[in-house]
Amino acid sequence: MTTTEGAARGKVILFGEHAVVYGVPAIAVGIERGARARAEAIATGPSTLRVRDWNMKVREDDPETPLARAFGDLLRVTREAGVSVSAVSVEAESDLPPGGGLGCSAALGVAVARALDPEASPEVIADRAGAWEAVFHGNASGVDAAVASLGGCVLFERGGPTERSTITRVRAPGVVHLCIGNSGEASSTRSMVEAVARLRARRPETTQKAFDAIHTLVKNARLAIEAADRNAVGQLLDLNQMLLSGLFVSTPEIEQMCSAARAAGALGAKLTGAGGGGCVVALVDHADAGAKVLAAWKSDGFDGFLTTFGAPETARRGPSFIESAP
Ligand code: PMV
Repeated sequence: MTTTEGAARGKVILFGEHAVVYGVPAIAVGIERGARARAEAIATGPSTLRVRDWNMKVREDDPETPLARAFGDLLRVTREAGVSVSAVSVEAESDLPPGGGLGCSAALGVAVARALDPEASPEVIADRAGAWEAVFHGNASGVDAAVASLGGCVLFERGGPTERSTITRVRAPGVVHLCIGNSGEASSTRSMVEAVARLRARRPETTQKAFDAIHTLVKNARLAIEAADRNAVGQLLDLNQMLLSGLFVSTPEIEQMCSAARAAGALGAKLTGAGGGGCVVALVDHADAGAKVLAAWKSDGFDGFLTTFGAPETARRGPSFIESAP
């Protein structure tokens, strides 16, 4: 029996979510948590996929279930690219909260895509995982799949209908510490993206002004990250949060978590991902400051964890097979 494996990272969008759907660049980082998949060749089809954490097992030929459609589409684009994928039984798992804004579905899609074709480049895998993401997220920008596949800190800009998206590495000198807190409410990326689309249709000018402001902020954020100017990055996170609130994607819990993080010493905080629930990201100076933010969240009933990016080894290392979370 041939067995192949794939792994992918979860992601945190630092700047530019929602605006990225409309062509504004976004900055996102891969985190250690992610997804893994293992594909085993079987004698006869149809191929199956089991996602352990979702307690779901689907067949590629079942059009009723979104997970089955996503799996079927992924197999189709892989085969259309000339890769000979026989019937397979795929097992996948993730240690990311679904609907948490950390790119759980993209990480699963990338891990499965990689298990189906371990030799493909990270860019090709991200592209193929786009077919999977389209089922779950409708108008997905592709930032989640790009970071899930490439890892590190990237500036992502969505391409037009006939252009490829561009992915540029952002080099952060030194380790950057982030606290990720979960508001405890799962949210649907698809419905949040649709809500912003409705707002844009109703108030095109104000929405465009918000996107333009986010664009400026992303450019400054890139410079601040590359210059290791933590205070500036923190201020820009706060500004991005204000603009996201103006797009009505924040919630009282997210606002409470951002305020608690700042009061506990964070340099800045904002929602990450689609909003409407999900996770908050807070920038801290060092791990001890992060522990204070996590304790403040804990005392308000919110779980969180600390992650880093920018260390030479995490910035350069591609995704590897991640050990199961405890
Ligand atoms: O909630 P997530 O982790 O799927 O992130 C969504 C990011 C959006 O910008 C809101 C949508 C997108 O496709 O880029």
